[in-house]
Amino acid sequence: MLRWKPELYGRSLLRLSDLSDEEMLSLVQLAIDLKARRRAGVRGDLLRRRQVALIFEKSSTRTRNSASIAIRDEGGGAEYLSTNDIHLGSKESVKDTARVLGRLFDGILFRGFKQSTVETLAAYSGVPVWNGLTDDFHPTQILADLMTIQESFGRLKGLKVAYVGDGRNNVANTLMFGCVKAGAHFVNCTPDVLVPDPALVQEAREVGKRNGASVEIVSDPKGGVAGANVIYTDVWVSMGEEAQMEQRLSLLRPYQVNMELMRATGNMGGELMFLHCLPAFHDRETAMTAESGALEVTDDVFEAPFSKVFDEAENRMHTIKALYVSAMVDGGGF
Ligand code: CP
Ligand code: NVA
Repeated sequence: MLRWKPELYGRSLLRLSDLSDEEMLSLVQLAIDLKARRRAGVRGDLLRRRQVALIFEKSSTRTRNSASIAIRDEGGGAEYLSTNDIHLGSKESVKDTARVLGRLFDGILFRGFKQSTVETLAAYSGVPVWNGLTDDFHPTQILADLMTIQESFGRLKGLKVAYVGDGRNNVANTLMFGCVKAGAHFVNCTPDVLVPDPALVQEAREVGKRNGASVEIVSDPKGGVAGANVIYTDVWVSMGEEAQMEQRLSLLRPYQVNMELMRATGNMGGELMFLHCLPAFHDRETAMTAESGALEVTDDVFEAPFSKVFDEAENRMHTIKALYVSAMVDGGGF
């Protein structure tokens, strides 16, 4: 039996704060149930005749394919629209594009630069819009991360999640909210020049208060990760920030997630997990830098038994499916 909150019908997800804490956790549970349904071999028709537009200004492996498969698995269809394919941003405004696509599709997933673009799509399309990553937030990613933690540890409340790296990027911002909404303590280990917007931290602390969860911002990675159950990192240079590469390498080298840092949690052999939204620079010469080898995470951590990065990647599909079902299927159950 699948269950979801009927009040999610028709709703967009532009940032995690669009959801109540309970709604967010119910989506994680629905994703777990949908994963079991797929594992049982069911390819049903929950999303029959639903059509989604996938607008991408930035490149993607996980989000794009998860968004396509999630709807096709349950009988619907997806149209991938890169900004080379449509007029958005060149010959046509976001507002007009929203009004056209809203007449044709049942939902729109957007990946791109400005948070204001996804907000305009939601304001004018008349259909649910999902944020598949902007410069500010990555809410569909964090739903998958919470799902992965819940699957492994059987709970979220009371756990300690430490993010290590570029502390003010889209993933760090959103993980902070995902944790405190779920009652997990959040520590952001980052250099002083990369701390998140104080207004966001203040907002997250308010959310944390009602759930008994704290938010700490620290510059010492070893001290910050002490007692952590989840160590999370992301690339040091996000899409669109390539010009910052040299500066970020020198700033963030002391924040590399390696075995020494994992040991500093004091939880080796206990409840400990490594997560990374991927793609990760862990083992090779990258296209972005002439350096070879690991950047934000070493290969031994990435490949360790406590690394759940590929469960996390798979869970992108199940959580996006949960968003589709709850927003595009009326009734709250099946
Ligand atoms: N984690 C994530 O969003 O991956 P993609 O950039 O491949 O979509
Ligand atoms: N912070 C990264 C996340 C990639 C999934 C970026 O924006 O490039």
